[in-house]
Amino acid sequence: MRRLLFLTVLSMGIAMFLASPVCAAVQGACSNCHTMHNSQNNNNMILNTAIDDSSGGTHGGGYPSLTRGSCVGCHTGTNTSTSTRPFVYDTNGVTYGTDTLAGGNFKWVVTEGSAKGHNVKGIPGMVADTALTSAPGNINADSCTNSCHETLFDPEIGGNKINTGCQGCHLAPEHHAPRQTAGTPALEANGYFRFLSGHFTGYGVEGIEDDDWQYITSESNHNEYLGKVASHTESAATGGFINVGGNTMTAYCTGCHGNFHIQHDAPANANWIRHPSDAVLPSTGEYAYYTTYDPNVPVARPDLTTIANTNLVANNSDMVMCLSCHRAHGSPYDDMLRWKYDGMIAGGGGDDGTGCFVCHTAKDH
Ligand code: HEC
Ligand code: HEC
Ligand code: HEC
Ligand code: HEC
Ligand code: HEC
Ligand code: HEC
Repeated sequence: MRRLLFLTVLSMGIAMFLASPVCAAVQGACSNCHTMHNSQNNNNMILNTAIDDSSGGTHGGGYPSLTRGSCVGCHTGTNTSTSTRPFVYDTNGVTYGTDTLAGGNFKWVVTEGSAKGHNVKGIPGMVADTALTSAPGNINADSCTNSCHETLFDPEIGGNKINTGCQGCHLAPEHHAPRQTAGTPALEANGYFRFLSGHFTGYGVEGIEDDDWQYITSESNHNEYLGKVASHTESAATGGFINVGGNTMTAYCTGCHGNFHIQHDAPANANWIRHPSDAVLPSTGEYAYYTTYDPNVPVARPDLTTIANTNLVANNSDMVMCLSCHRAHGSPYDDMLRWKYDGMIAGGGGDDGTGCFVCHTAKDH
């Protein structure tokens, strides 16, 4: 009996050890991803020579952190259901929503032009955005020339050119940070949601990470984004914008597009004069009919630890946000939108039931 108890305790111990949450985001042999000299049998060790110069990065040596390529090199490829590396750019064809991930894909920025996404340094064939020479809505008055607020195509941080535009947003990736338990939010200790850390300590994005980066989605299978109800007290008259705080996706986007958050003409009349983000979906009128979560039109949640039902949108609680309408990387549509704006035809005849109509349910008929 005592022996049985001992074995039970022992096997419970082993089970707990195996289930131990301290595994890192990346796993596997160091040599899969790193090279000490960027040389093996006198050949380079670059994983993706089509993207990265086969002579290696700076000075022909290798890349920072001794990785076997740049951010773009490692993150270029075709996503499949068994991918262990998320690909954000594909040199072959991509089908939007089929082999693309939550952020979309940078493909269309290269093949169809700058309006399809963020123009980032490091992707072969990508050019600087000539129409947008600075982040629209930037309230930092471009005090920092060539900063990421002005360009992700040739950015500098603290006067130093950075290797890729990716790090303009994913400031300090932490591929070895401990991975959070599935279904719980990625916090600072985990390197934040998708490594979206800000300039200052405490300023990153919190969110629940879908394990296949939304390669496959459904009403119950998607990322969760944090939102923070915007204050309605400020107005155009008192500065024109409401600076957002909190570890939210909207706050993150507004780090560069500050003026686009939310605007009223005056607190007293409270008329929207720009489309709000992190405004609560009312439980009345046409908004009341957006109830089943559509991963193509995501909403932000006020508290990631108390989401009652991930399949549902909670009116009077959940919020419209930047990513309700935009992809973060790129899309086949102008303004990096999640759907074709030209297809939104009031009164019927357009892409009924999608895009704007998912929330403005009365405007398509
Ligand atoms: C699946 C890919 C992958 C594997 C496997 C991997 N690494 Fe890394 N590692 C990275 C990437 C990417 C970085 C880039 C910078 C970052 O995110 O910290 C990195 C950064 C590092 C750093 C610098 C940053 C830090 O966290 O200290 C060290 C040291 C490091 N790796 C050591 C190792 C060792 C040792 C192994 C094997 C036990 C290993 N890595 C396995 C991808 C990997
Ligand atoms: C050696 C290959 C390699 C390099 C170089 C590399 N990554 Fe990664 N990256 C990976 C792998 C593998 C994963 C998947 C980790 C996982 O399963 O969550 C990953 C995951 C990510 C993620 C998503 C994290 C998540 O929550 O799933 C981001 C964002 C990212 N990398 C950004 C970058 C940036 C920015 C750089 C350049 C500074 C970079 N990576 C360089 C291999 C690499
Ligand atoms: C680090 C700064 C930075 C952050 C953070 C940032 N952007 Fe941008 N964004 C820019 C810059 C610079 C441009 C103009 C050049 C370009 O298109 O790349 C831009 C352009 C855009 C455009 C217009 C694209 C076009 O060419 O028509 C949209 C839409 C956009 N951003 C949305 C977002 C959203 C949504 C987020 C949050 C997920 C975000 N941005 C986060 C810097 C940023
Ligand atoms: C304008 C800011 C911005 C830039 C620039 C940017 N990312 Fe991202 N990235 C994001 C955001 C926001 C997400 C989360 C998207 C979501 O959940 O909808 C993300 C998600 C990711 C993911 C997870 C897969 C996915 O689609 O959700 C990877 C991997 C990644 N980024 C890598 C990169 C690499 C590599 C680059 C440079 C080629 C890059 N990012 C440039 C903001 C950016
Ligand atoms: C309700 C949908 C919706 C939401 C929410 C939304 N946008 Fe937009 N955004 C659009 C549309 C549509 C356009 C096309 C231009 C227009 O109609 O003003 C656009 C254009 C843009 C542009 C390009 C402006 C230019 O001068 O070319 C940027 C940058 C942008 N949005 C950033 C953001 C950011 C940052 C957020 C969150 C704070 C956000 N958007 C929230 C729908 C939205
Ligand atoms: C995720 C839901 C969502 C999506 C998608 C969305 N909206 Fe909205 N929209 C809202 C919310 C919430 C408000 C603010 C409602 C309120 O406070 O009364 C709003 C407000 C508006 C207003 C101002 C209404 C007023 O009473 O002043 C207009 C116009 C508008 N949206 C148009 C659009 C268009 C066009 C699109 C597509 C490009 C779009 N919206 C996409 C949720 C959404």
